[in-house]
Amino acid sequence: MTATQTWNTTELVAKDKAHHLHPVSNLKALRANGPLVMAHGEGVYLWDTDGKKYIDGFAGLWNVNVGHGRHELAVAAAEQIDDVAFVPTFFGLASPPAIELAARLASMFPGDLNHIQFTSGGAESNETALKIARYYWWLKGQPEKIKVISRRMGYHGIAMGALAATGIPTYHEGFGPGVPGYVHVSAPYKYRNGEGLTDAEFVDKLIAELEELIAKEGARTIAAFIGEPVQGAGGVVVPVDGYWQAVSDVLKKHNILLIADEVICGFGRTGSMFGAEEYNFQPDIASFAKGVTSGYIPLGGVAVTDEIFDTMSEPDRMFMHGFTYSGHPVACAVALKNIDIIEREDLPTNARVSGDHLRAELHRLLDGHKNVGEIRGKGQMTIVELVSNRDTKEKLDPATNPSGTITAATRKQGVIVRPTNDGVGIAPPLIITNDEATALAEGVAAGIVDVLGG
Ligand SMILES: Cc1ncc(COP(=O)(O)O)c(C=O)c1O
Repeated sequence: MTATQTWNTTELVAKDKAHHLHPVSNLKALRANGPLVMAHGEGVYLWDTDGKKYIDGFAGLWNVNVGHGRHELAVAAAEQIDDVAFVPTFFGLASPPAIELAARLASMFPGDLNHIQFTSGGAESNETALKIARYYWWLKGQPEKIKVISRRMGYHGIAMGALAATGIPTYHEGFGPGVPGYVHVSAPYKYRNGEGLTDAEFVDKLIAELEELIAKEGARTIAAFIGEPVQGAGGVVVPVDGYWQAVSDVLKKHNILLIADEVICGFGRTGSMFGAEEYNFQPDIASFAKGVTSGYIPLGGVAVTDEIFDTMSEPDRMFMHGFTYSGHPVACAVALKNIDIIEREDLPTNARVSGDHLRAELHRLLDGHKNVGEIRGKGQMTIVELVSNRDTKEKLDPATNPSGTITAATRKQGVIVRPTNDGVGIAPPLIITNDEATALAEGVAAGIVDVLGG
C-alpha cells in the first residue's frame, strides 16, 4: 500500500457519526456503528484507514470502470485546472475539452446520437433526457405527448422526474406526492415474471402488456419510454433475446421516443461500449454518467439524434435547460483520458471475459446452496439472488435484512459488494483479472455461507 497519509480512524468515525448525513444508508445503524472509511485505491483494490485491503467488488457504485489510482487522470485534471478550471456552457460559451468530448462521444454512440448535452451525474442526465423528450414533442406541435413509460425494478436516479420513472418502491417511501404522468410496465425479469415460458413467449407477454398500456393511456399522450439496457439497482435484470428489438418496434410504431439509460451500462460494463449495442437497438436519446469518467470526477450527459437536435435548434429561441456544471472543463478533460484508457485496454472485452469467469466461479461455489435462487448477469454486472426456498422461490424474510447482513459479512472477507434487490450485487472494475474475479467470487460465497450456513 502506498497511501500518502496515516489516519485516525476513531476520530474520523466519530466526526462522521456526528456530521455526515449519508445517502441511501440506514441512518440509525450508521449513527450507531459509523462507516467503513476507505483511504486509498489501486487497481481493483481499496484500503481502509487501518490499512486493511479489500477487493472493490462494486467498482465504487458500478462506476470505477478503469480501476483506482490511474495517475494519468490526476494529471489530466491538474493540467486543466492550471489552464482554466471553469468555463460555463451557457450563453454561447464553451471550453476545448467540452467540445472535444462532445465530438468524441458523438463518434462513439451508435447511430446518429450526434449531439451531447452534459450534466453532473445520472439523475440529472435522465431529467435532461425526459425534459428533452417533452420539449421535442412540444416543438413538433404535440404538447399533449408528455407521459413517460418505465419499468418496474428500473432505477433512474433520485431527482423528482428520474425518481418518478424509478420502479423500486423503497425509493418512493416518504417522498410523495410523486410527479404525475409516469406509468410502469413489468421488467424482463424471467426468473419471476416469465417462469415456464420460452424467451419468445416471454417477449410476447411483455409486449402485450406494453401494447395494452399504450392503448389505455393513448399513444398521443406518451412522450417516451425509458429503460436501462440491463437493469442494475433493481436486481441486475438481464433481458431475454429479442426483448429490446420488440420494444423498440412497438415504440416506433406508436411514435414514442426510446431513451436508453446507459448510466451503468455505458462505457463497457455489459461487454460492449454501450448497452444498446450489446442488445442491438437504436435509442433516440441515451443518458450516461458513471463510467464516462470512471468516477474520478462527476460528469454525465445525454446524446440525442440529429432529428431531435435539428428540431430543438430550428426555432429562434432559448433552450432553457442546463446545469451550472454542464460541460465542466476539468470533468471533460478527465473523461477524454478515461475513454482513452477504456479503448486502449479494450475494457468492454475484458468485462465480458472476466464477467463470464466470475459467474462460472460463483456457479462452482454456490450452485448447490439452498438459498441461491439464481446467479445471473451480463459483462461485469452480476447478482446472486437469494431465496428461502429454491423450489417455491419464496423470498428470505426482509426483516432479517439478508442482503445487508451478507454484504457486511463479505467485508470481513476483504470484499466490498452491495445489497441489491433480493441478493448480492457484484460489479467490479472492468480491469479485473480472472484470478481477482475468482478471489471476489470466493469472498462473496464465504459471506453467504457465513450468514446463511453451507
Ligand atoms: C441506471 C441508473 N440511472 C441513473 C442513476 C442515477 O445516477 P446518479 O446517482 O449519478 O444521479 C443510476 C445510479 O446508480 C443508475 O444506476
